[in-house]
Amino acid sequence: MRKLVYLAAGTGVLALTLSLTFRAPSAQQAPAPVADTLPAPFLSASDTARLMGPRQPIFFRHDIHAGQYKIQCQYCHYTVAVSSEPGIPSVQTCMGCHMVIGGSDSGAKIEIKKVRAAWNDKKPMEWVRVHTLGRFAHFPHSRHIKAMGPNACATCHGDVTRMPQVFQVNKINNMGFCIGCHVERKINRDCTACHY
Ligand code: HEC
Ligand code: HEC
Ligand code: HEC
Ligand code: HEC
Ligand code: HEC
Repeated sequence: MRKLVYLAAGTGVLALTLSLTFRAPSAQQAPAPVADTLPAPFLSASDTARLMGPRQPIFFRHDIHAGQYKIQCQYCHYTVAVSSEPGIPSVQTCMGCHMVIGGSDSGAKIEIKKVRAAWNDKKPMEWVRVHTLGRFAHFPHSRHIKAMGPNACATCHGDVTRMPQVFQVNKINNMGFCIGCHVERKINRDCTACHY
């Protein structure tokens, strides 16, 4: 078991501690289910340095979008079921909501201004990648989603709906992660299935 503790200090008095537990990396087990009614904790961009995962140019929060507001993964990662690449949403997708939604507190307002600035300047957002396989290995998302279902994301990515900042839960760059599940489920293990 790995234990992560997010500390979010709003004021000196109010300190909110959210503790999430994930199972140790294992190919076939999804993370333990978590209560669905938990609102995302209060955090601001100054908290990002102590969160797991790389810091992003805009503090975009999955725990708010996919967690609290329950926006479907495929609304943004729109090609995950039809292509190798899941797709990263364009600024236009964000503006579908943020033309109107400006943020309910000062921290959110500052970050949403950055989204609007990117839109006005016609600049793409340069997200830092969290998962990257070596170029000699290929991972087709659509094959997995078709076989494992649209909610399979957590099997490999952990419970992203509770992540203020995305981090890697499984060692995807270790071939054992892939092979373990392929053995378990009797799936193709020819070298050329993944290396070509
Ligand atoms: C379907 C609607 C929707 C879409 C699409 C959407 N957002 Fe949001 N976003 C929200 C809502 C709702 C909030 C919460 C606003 C609040 O109450 O502060 C939010 C909050 C935010 C915040 C502030 C988070 C914080 O610190 O509180 C940022 C930054 C943000 N969104 C960026 C983005 C980016 C970047 C995209 C595109 C990749 C995007 N959003 C797409 C609805 C959306
Ligand atoms: C409102 C749009 C939006 C929704 C909804 C959304 N995502 Fe994302 N996702 C993004 C954006 C933008 C990034 C790139 C920035 C980042 O890494 O936070 C991203 C990044 C990721 C990454 C890391 C990609 C990498 O670089 O390796 C994973 C994994 C991910 N999302 C999974 C999910 C899952 C699972 C869901 C549903 C539970 C989901 N996302 C819902 C917009 C969204
Ligand atoms: C069987 C494991 C597995 C499942 C299931 C899975 N992913 Fe992934 N995901 C990966 C791996 C491996 C990578 C790295 C791929 C690469 O670098 O080519 C990745 C990368 C990503 C990225 C980054 C892509 C980019 O271009 O930056 C996003 C976003 C993502 N996954 C979203 C999702 C979503 C959403 C789901 C569920 C609908 C999902 N994944 C299901 C293993 C998985
Ligand atoms: C949790 C289980 C699981 C994990 C982890 C997993 N896979 Fe798979 N993989 C599957 C399933 C299920 C299929 C679908 C087989 C089908 O289409 O019937 C599949 C199919 C594939 C295929 C198509 C094989 C063929 O028949 O040609 C490739 C390629 C592949 N996976 C690569 C990978 C890589 C690379 C990784 C690691 C980064 C990985 N997989 C991790 C379950 C998994
Ligand atoms: C299910 C997918 C899959 C299959 C099947 C597979 N590999 Fe891999 N392999 C990977 C992934 C994923 C990596 C890690 C890529 C990375 O570094 O990002 C990897 C890494 C490697 C590496 C580099 C090892 C290292 O330590 O960096 C070698 C060599 C390799 N594989 C050889 C093979 C051979 C030989 C076979 C057949 C016996 C095979 N692979 C079958 C997915 C697979």
